[in-house]
Amino acid sequence: MSYEHILVDGPAEGVGRVQFNRPKALNALNSPMMDEVNDAMLAFDRDPTIGALILTGNDKAFAAGADIKEMDGMTAIDMLTTVSLIERFEIEKLSKPLIAAVSGYALGGGCEIAMACDMIVASETAVFGQPEINLGIIPGAGGTQRLTRAVGKALAMEIMLTDRKLGAREALQRGLVNRLAPLDEYMDVAIDIARKAARRSQVASRLTKDAVNKAYEMTLEEGLAYERRNFLIAFGSEDKGEGMRAFIEKRRAEWVNR
Ligand code: CAA
Repeated sequence: MSYEHILVDGPAEGVGRVQFNRPKALNALNSPMMDEVNDAMLAFDRDPTIGALILTGNDKAFAAGADIKEMDGMTAIDMLTTVSLIERFEIEKLSKPLIAAVSGYALGGGCEIAMACDMIVASETAVFGQPEINLGIIPGAGGTQRLTRAVGKALAMEIMLTDRKLGAREALQRGLVNRLAPLDEYMDVAIDIARKAARRSQVASRLTKDAVNKAYEMTLEEGLAYERRNFLIAFGSEDKGEGMRAFIEKRRAEWVNR
């Protein structure tokens, strides 16, 4: 399938990559582009030859937020019923590891979509922020919740109440991003991490991601029970037998992803 607003790359060594491609609008997230992102990501997620995914923009902008020109004419009911960016975040449902490779602006919905990924690799020029307050609205795709969990209440409040931007180095220090790399290297770092994740059993990977995400939703007791359940499912997989035999026989495991 050909796309108008995104570029798609892969599978390459088990990795599929989706790139926002509205450079003139700093990759503002409009409905047609988000539909394409969801379509491409879900297709990659279903592809058994793909073990990990990358979502990226360009060097200047990961994404400068939801498309303000699209939202300008919309009512609350339009947002609720038709083109809600929130409901367009299908990426939250993906089962495979998803890495955001972020350079330049990651603002508003752009910051939120990066935080909805499993890991973030940032270039030294990356800038994170939630400037919705300047538009008379609030973050609507997870910012108040995910940013607060990632960097703590005090800094999250400052970012969202005063439009304080977070540079790449501070984002690393505060645990928002996994890695920081020079502009000409951040994509290689993201690809390297994605390939490492893609080489694992897809069954174990999926069950791990699912359980880690539950840490946000559950009490410790519930989470430990959930982890135990996923552990037992993994224990029943063919990959469990292969992984343990490969260790004992001192060879590389050949995963069947079952
Ligand atoms: N929506 C629509 N268009 C956008 C956009 C956005 N979020 N961000 C940038 N653009 C467009 C600009 O309108 C401009 O288009 P024209 O050339 O047609 O005028 C083009 O991209 C380049 O932008 P600038 O000229 O503004 O570039 P700059 O380098 O001077 O400034 C910037 C860059 C600081 C990122 C500035 O563009 C900006 O502040 N953008 C808006 C950021 C924002 O408020 N994001 C939050 C959106 S609301 C949201 O995301 C809601 C939610 O939680 C779901």
